[in-house]
Amino acid sequence: KRETIAGYAALAPVIPVVTVDDPDRAVALARTLVEAGLPVVEITLRTSSALRCIEAVAREVPEAVLAAGTVIRPKQIEEAADAGARFLVSPGTSPRMAEALAEAALPAMPACATVSEALHLFELGFDLLKFFPAGSSGGAAWLRAVAAPVPEVRFCPTGGLDGTSAPDYLACPNVACVGGSWMIPKDALASGDWARIGTLAREAAALRR
Ligand code: 3PG
Repeated sequence: KRETIAGYAALAPVIPVVTVDDPDRAVALARTLVEAGLPVVEITLRTSSALRCIEAVAREVPEAVLAAGTVIRPKQIEEAADAGARFLVSPGTSPRMAEALAEAALPAMPACATVSEALHLFELGFDLLKFFPAGSSGGAAWLRAVAAPVPEVRFCPTGGLDGTSAPDYLACPNVACVGGSWMIPKDALASGDWARIGTLAREAAALRR
């Protein structure tokens, strides 16, 4: 599972974080992101139809490497797997959730916001962690500060990033990739402006690690 998730993180510099409530829209959006060079896509379990959106994208856009995000309850692990997600992302990880993710069949990228949380997750076998919410938990300075004391762990900082701040995060030695929703402006998603989202996604895909 460790190698699988590291392989996914290596596919693109940015994991777009998608919150969408319509399966057709989710499919069109996932196609746009994949075609723009962002093949790893996280769909958050934050809408009542999120699982149906994951199912639709898994079926219609099989080239997307699909994550279920905002996984915060153990029962969502199986639901996400059944819907066709290939990995799991949490925004924070309670002890019970951390153990459930460690035992899950699917690989997971659980989140931490502190060194103690990172070490707890590392003890459970996770060495690629989401750092969330990155922007308000110390940002790139936090990542640089933990690189020496926590050398085995790599991070995917997410939360509050945009095209301007992402390069600084990607320059950190312990950052595998970054996550964010900045390439999917709410109004562009609502109006189905795939051209605008495609342009922003291509810019994100061109960022260098
Ligand atoms: C997440 O769940 O990872 C965040 O909602 C993404 O953060 P952003 O919207 O600030 O990019």
